[in-house]
Amino acid sequence: MLSQQIQASKHPPELVVDVMMAVQEHYGYLSDEALEEAAAMVGMAPTKLDELATFYTFLYREPVGRYVIHLCDSVICWMDGYEPLRDHLCKKLGIQMGETTPDGLFTLLPVCCIGYCDRSPAMLINKKAYGPLTSEKIDEILETLRSEAAETTPS
Ligand code: FES
Repeated sequence: MLSQQIQASKHPPELVVDVMMAVQEHYGYLSDEALEEAAAMVGMAPTKLDELATFYTFLYREPVGRYVIHLCDSVICWMDGYEPLRDHLCKKLGIQMGETTPDGLFTLLPVCCIGYCDRSPAMLINKKAYGPLTSEKIDEILETLRSEAAETTPS
């Protein structure tokens, strides 16, 4: 589908973010090799794609966990308790912002407003929005995801 769009497009570079997203979806993150593959598809220099990938919050240049938690740190969420929730998440996961748990299950990243201000404080996990958050809700969400992962991971 995306390759058809690229072939049909008179300006493939316009599709660069979509292409990077699709390549990331396939490989899990944008390694140098994946970035070069995406660059070849749209006819752009890999260095240009690297600049874009660095700019876009949802493009990952390093491996990420199975669940990528984007905790909103914009003003409304900040006023509604971002800091203690961030600390709670870091403590529960045993990592700092920007890190991935040793079991590869969770990556914790900041994000600008996700448009969930009326349910702040909020976060996205693999594109699904959660809010308003409390420490208890975070515990429930993490537990549910851990159970889901255990059920779907081959032993
Ligand atoms: S400020 Fe956090 S969702 Fe808008």
